[in-house]
Amino acid sequence: MKALILCGGKGTRLRPLTYTMAKQLIPVANKPIIQIVIEQVRDAGIRDIGIVISPETGEQVQKAIGNGARWDAGIHYILQSEPGGLAHAVKSARLFLEDYPFLMFLGDNLIQGGVSQSVKDFMNSSNEAMIHLKEVADPSRFGVAVLGDNKKVVRLIEKPAEPPSNLAMVGIYLFRPAIHRAIDRIKPSWRGELEITDAIQAMIESGNPVEAKILEGWWLDTGKKDDILEANRVVLDEYTRPVCNGQVDRRSRVVGRVAIGAGSKVVNSVIRGPAVLGENVMIEDSFIGPYTALGNESVLENVSIEHSVVLNNCCLKNVERIEDSLIGSNARVSRVMDQRRAVRIFLGDDSEVLI
Ligand code: DAU
Repeated sequence: MKALILCGGKGTRLRPLTYTMAKQLIPVANKPIIQIVIEQVRDAGIRDIGIVISPETGEQVQKAIGNGARWDAGIHYILQSEPGGLAHAVKSARLFLEDYPFLMFLGDNLIQGGVSQSVKDFMNSSNEAMIHLKEVADPSRFGVAVLGDNKKVVRLIEKPAEPPSNLAMVGIYLFRPAIHRAIDRIKPSWRGELEITDAIQAMIESGNPVEAKILEGWWLDTGKKDDILEANRVVLDEYTRPVCNGQVDRRSRVVGRVAIGAGSKVVNSVIRGPAVLGENVMIEDSFIGPYTALGNESVLENVSIEHSVVLNNCCLKNVERIEDSLIGSNARVSRVMDQRRAVRIFLGDDSEVLI
C-alpha cells in the first residue's frame, strides 16, 4: 500500500500567511499540519509516501519535510504543474502510484485517532474505494454524500448549494486502481478543477462499490484562520504533556499542561495550559492563556494572550489582550506608550485587523 499526501493548491483563504508559506506547513500546537498527517500515515504502517507539491511552495515543503528518514519512511515528491483539482493531483502521481492500492490524505485535514483502522478495514474488503464522512452543520462547504443500504455510497456532489444530506466528505480516501480509469472519464467541474468527488461518483455509476465510514471523533479542515485556531485548540487539548526544558522564575506560575521548549525563559508571568512555548521564547510580565502556541524565538513583554497561534520570531509588547489571533513569523505588535491614541499599521496584503 502507498500513500499520497496532497500539498499543492493555492491556499488563497489563508492569505497573507500563504504568500510566504504553504498552508500545510502552518503549525498547530507548534507542529506543521503536514507533519501530523505524515505521522498518522506512518502509524497506519505505510512507508512509501508520495507528496504532491506545487511549483510555488514545493521547495519549502521539501526543505521542511525531507526524505522521510526521521519517520523511517521513503518520501517522494511529485510536482503538480498547476492546481487542477484533487483528481488532477492523482493523475500527476500516476507513475508513483503504479497499480498499488493507496491512501490519499489532503495535507490540510486532521482527524482524531488516525487512519490505521480504516487502512486495515479497506485492505480486508474488496471495495474499489472507501471514503470518510462526518456530520456537519454547513455541508455546502464540502463534498456531500448520500448513503444507501449497508453504508454503500449512492451519490456524491461537490459543494452543493442545496445539500442532500449533512454528511461531508472528509479529505481522506482509500482507492484501488479503478480510480485511475474513473479519473480518465471525468471533465473539469464548474470551478475548472478535476474533482475527486466526480471521479468517485463515476466509479459508483460504473458499478464499483464504494464504502463509507462515518467518523465519530473530531475532523478539522484547516482552510481558514478560524479553522487553524480550532485545530490548535483541539490538538493542544489532546496532545499537550507538561514538560519544562526552559527556565521559570519564582515569581511566575505555570498552571495545567504547559510544554516549554529548550532555552525559553518565563519571568514574572502566568501561563495557563494547555499551551506550548517553542525554543528560546522570552516571556516577561505577561499572561499566556489556554490554547496558545508560541513559535520559536518569540518575545512577549507585558502582554496578555490566549486562544492564539504565534509563529516564529515575533515580538509582542504592551498589548493588554490578544485573543483568537493568528500571527505570522517575524511580526511585531506593540502599544506605543504616548498620549496620542492613534493606531499605526504596516500590514501585508490581504491582512485583517480587528480593533
Ligand atoms: O477538506 C475536505 C474537502 O476537501 C472535501 O469535502 C471536498 O470534497 C474536496 O474537494 C476538498 O475541498 P476543498 O475545496 O477544501 O479542497 P482544497 O482546494 O482546499 O484542497 C485540499 C488540499 O489538496 C489542500 O491541501 C491543497 C491540495 N490540493 C488542492 C488542489 C485544488 C492539491 O494538492 N492540488 C490541487 O490541485
